[in-house]
Amino acid sequence: MPPPSSATAPQRGRDLCHLAFRQTLDLLRVTDGALEELCTECPQPRGLDTLVIRALNEMALGERAEGTRAPSHVFLIHGPAPTYTGILYHLEKSGYQAVTGALPVPVEAFVFTGAGNDGVTLSNPEDEGVSGNEYQRRFPPQLLRALGSEVHNYIAYRIAGDWAGALVALNYPGRATRYEAQVLSALAITLGSLWTLTARISQVEESFLYLVGALARASEVNDEVTGDHIVRVSRCAELLARKVGCSPEQARVIGYSAELHDVGKLHTPGHILRKPGPLTAPEEEVMRQHTVQGERIIGTSPRLQVARRIAGKHHENWDGSGYPRGLAGTEIPLEARVVKVVDVYDALRSQRPYKPPLSHEEACQVMQRGDGRTDPAKHFDPDILAAFREIHEEFRRIHVEILPWP
Ligand SMILES: [Fe+2]
Ligand SMILES: [Fe+2]
Repeated sequence: MPPPSSATAPQRGRDLCHLAFRQTLDLLRVTDGALEELCTECPQPRGLDTLVIRALNEMALGERAEGTRAPSHVFLIHGPAPTYTGILYHLEKSGYQAVTGALPVPVEAFVFTGAGNDGVTLSNPEDEGVSGNEYQRRFPPQLLRALGSEVHNYIAYRIAGDWAGALVALNYPGRATRYEAQVLSALAITLGSLWTLTARISQVEESFLYLVGALARASEVNDEVTGDHIVRVSRCAELLARKVGCSPEQARVIGYSAELHDVGKLHTPGHILRKPGPLTAPEEEVMRQHTVQGERIIGTSPRLQVARRIAGKHHENWDGSGYPRGLAGTEIPLEARVVKVVDVYDALRSQRPYKPPLSHEEACQVMQRGDGRTDPAKHFDPDILAAFREIHEEFRRIHVEILPWP
């Protein structure tokens, strides 16, 4: 409910406090989805700016915000220390719009954001007894230039944490008040927590991917193939998954999960892995166990279920003649069908003690017509094979690229 126009100042104050609180809650709610996206797409705390601007817009323009005195500009400063940059937003009819790119904010200039005991700085020059010129000198010159006018007052909230920065509201009509400082604080505190949360998610995601790669490389210690095989399979699987209709996020998960497709080979004796010729039936049986061993190693973590399905099922065949379970058709998970095609192509292109590498053209020929060992009609999902035909040049490109391990 908007406050009645006859509301007294305290009543209006209470309403605006509620509004700030609601904005904070809304911010947290929308963040659920936003963080999910952020954690998959190279999260940057800067991505959270849009949430704050949305909340400020609602306060400045929203029906419920009757009586709100909105600042003409908002300056959002980001760390991490010691490098700070800020983006200036101007209040237009449609809401706050960015009017600059990232402006450098020198550390010495950052001091204008204060911080009082509660992190908030409320500044009206007349209260501080400073002259106009002296007052302007505390702001970064780039900010003043972008502002195109002097600063008449401001409220700043210094945000501490993993990704330090500040939320600065500039030029309220008349004076900036304590009340508005409270409203800004509510948003800034939420923003600070989200920055920290996002930075932590980013770190966890980075470690997770590193460990997936490290485990995959460890599994090849006795194998004849090299780490490059894993990288190529991962990259090609992501591409092929996109081609068969997976979303970018699904394809990304399939890509990194594919790295672990042969992790079960940790349990396969080296003399079998490196045997330069056909395996005996008992050896073949041991070799086949790498699929179920892979499932065991990967375990039941929800985050690794795609990897588990790939490891356990990338040797199943479309006609049910594969192993370890003889699954057929769509009983085989899509990600395993994708990796199957990729893995066979890569094996054809690779040198083995018992065979030379095939050229891209020769490998494509085998993928289409078979060679006595690979039987495309029986082994591959026809839709995935058709997708491979369309993007095979990408496979060639990835295969010839040098992809050294870091
Ligand atoms: Fe395998
Ligand atoms: Fe493989």
